[in-house]
Amino acid sequence: MIEQDRIKKILFGGDYNPEQWPEEVWEEDMRLFKLAHVDTVTINVFSWAMLQPSEEVYDFSKLDKIMEMAKKNYLNVCLATSTGAHPAWMARKYPDILRADAQGIKRQFGSRHNSCPNSKTYRCYAPKLAAKIAERYKGYDNIVAWHISNEFGGECHCDNCQRAFRVWLKERYGTIEKLNVAWNMAFWGHTLYDFEDVVLPDLRSEEFLRPGRTCSSFQGISLDYKRFNSESLLECFRLEREAVRAITPNIPITTNLMGTYKPLDYQKWAKEMDFISWNNYPEYDAIASQVAFSHDLMRGIKQGKPFALMEQTPSVSNWHPYCALKRPGVMRLYSYQAVAHGADTILFFQMRRSKGACEKYHGALIDHCGHEHTRVFKEMSELGKELDHLGSAVLGGYTQSEVAIVFDWDNWWASELSAGPSQNINYLKEVQTYYHYFHSHHIPVDIIGVDDDLSQYKIVIAPLLYMCKEGFDQKLRDYIKNGGSFVTTYFSGYVDDHDLVVGAYPGHLKDLLGIWVEEIDALPPETSNYFDYKGQIYPAMIACDLLHTKTAEALSTYKQDFYAGMPAVTKNQYGDGQTYYIATRSNDAFYEAFFDDLTKQLGIFPIISIPREIETTIRQNKNGNFLFLLNHSRETLKCEIDREGKELFTNQSYQKGDTLTFLPYDVKIIKF
Ligand code: GLA
Ligand code: ZN
Repeated sequence: MIEQDRIKKILFGGDYNPEQWPEEVWEEDMRLFKLAHVDTVTINVFSWAMLQPSEEVYDFSKLDKIMEMAKKNYLNVCLATSTGAHPAWMARKYPDILRADAQGIKRQFGSRHNSCPNSKTYRCYAPKLAAKIAERYKGYDNIVAWHISNEFGGECHCDNCQRAFRVWLKERYGTIEKLNVAWNMAFWGHTLYDFEDVVLPDLRSEEFLRPGRTCSSFQGISLDYKRFNSESLLECFRLEREAVRAITPNIPITTNLMGTYKPLDYQKWAKEMDFISWNNYPEYDAIASQVAFSHDLMRGIKQGKPFALMEQTPSVSNWHPYCALKRPGVMRLYSYQAVAHGADTILFFQMRRSKGACEKYHGALIDHCGHEHTRVFKEMSELGKELDHLGSAVLGGYTQSEVAIVFDWDNWWASELSAGPSQNINYLKEVQTYYHYFHSHHIPVDIIGVDDDLSQYKIVIAPLLYMCKEGFDQKLRDYIKNGGSFVTTYFSGYVDDHDLVVGAYPGHLKDLLGIWVEEIDALPPETSNYFDYKGQIYPAMIACDLLHTKTAEALSTYKQDFYAGMPAVTKNQYGDGQTYYIATRSNDAFYEAFFDDLTKQLGIFPIISIPREIETTIRQNKNGNFLFLLNHSRETLKCEIDREGKELFTNQSYQKGDTLTFLPYDVKIIKF
């Protein structure tokens, strides 16, 4: 879809479900699409029931018409395989396709994303359908991408999955003795005698609910189940991918991811996808840096490659607790925010509002009124027109970062499966807290995994690196010895890949941090401790590590309680580099003070000096450097520009020192 020679602009359009409408409506759709400058439709996302009405019968008559209509109207097609919801006959005839929930309750036919990933029926019929679609439409040169299934996700706790889990474990561990060691099964007399003794860790066995999360009595088992579940769904993706790739080897293949989606290890998924695409549905109160973080995460899982914004709402998401409208200008702002962070498409869910079922109040280009005289239609067609003018200018642009933040799904799972030390330990929030500093200071960040190269960064930050996976400590050592800077936090280095404690904390990170942690004190929300940093006092919240320095120096100490005087922030010289340990969670004011110092010391500078409300990124491609400036505030803001350049929407040239005026939610892209 992206980075294809024949694509000369940011693709614009999105999910289109003509099969829900009589054919007379289609003609009107085509008229409206032209008015709105729509050039791309994602079709066939939920049509399995239509395409395969019974086991033996496949019926492509309607999809044939839809494909012809798209071609006739010069629309690019992102062609989905329709396997996101199985047909009713299949559930009736082959109940093994139905999932079971975490209480073991077998689901009946209903909803979507409802197939057991280890069902033989699903694994047979889903790729078969994908292959038939590929075979039938392989001659269409307007297909720009394969869209496998839809939003893979969820978990299944059925008997198929239990059997498959045992096989997966056997392949991984070989013997039951090794498994007993990895899961520490001597605890509570859990020793297993045979792989047949393994049961799924869920609410029937090891797991229990705590506010906002599911905890496990045996984190090692739950962790392996999460890996297995992510891998099982990935295998379903692979089966369909192989089916279509064999027939249309030149059409790139994706599936729509969901950003910070906890159940699937997207770093592993990314390796299997030709390009990343994802669906961005921020809630009304999401701050700019949270959305930016998701984009950067999606860019990071494919090592910085441009991605597709596959879905966003033009106006409202029906499934949020508060379905607030995107204010005038915000849809455009969010669209360019995606582009600023690496998107090469701006696609939406959906083109026409459905008239029944749960998404009938979800935003669309064409509303229930059916005509073009709406605010949303107007805003979208203006954007569509603008993208026609923008052409290929920014396509394929990369972003250079000197700062990396480590994000790791195993770590996310493991740090929150444990019932201690605090239910407020929140991996995603911790990472986003650190990201926020750099975002609001206009410093680009790469979100990397533990397998990625560190050498290009001036600083690597790994918040809550609870699990230090095998080899990562050595990678850090090499990086730091050669002059890198590394920052980590409380509750880090505790466990190995199986969630087994490796000894005194922070485990294998002790030498490079030059400290050891003796205890960790969880702070209930109504309490906090304090620490000083450069003469100012900052709060210590959530958890405080009680640590001793070995080779490190204390930059700060706690001020209260029996551990007053113990270090709260430490610094250690290691080889040519330095490491920092922040033993607690603090507030933004502290991170400001700390990272202002560190970035200055390391020569890391903001892209441009500009008010914080204006989000800033740079993308570079063969056409030049593009400075994206996005005003997230409702105020008109003015600032000086520090370089000469030309603004792409207005064609206005700027000299160094000129004043830029940003209207509320304004966007400028300056080529320099
Ligand atoms: C998801 C799905 C779409 C639709 C939208 C609604 O992203 O992929 O099919 O349900 O949500 O927001
Ligand atoms: Zn299952």
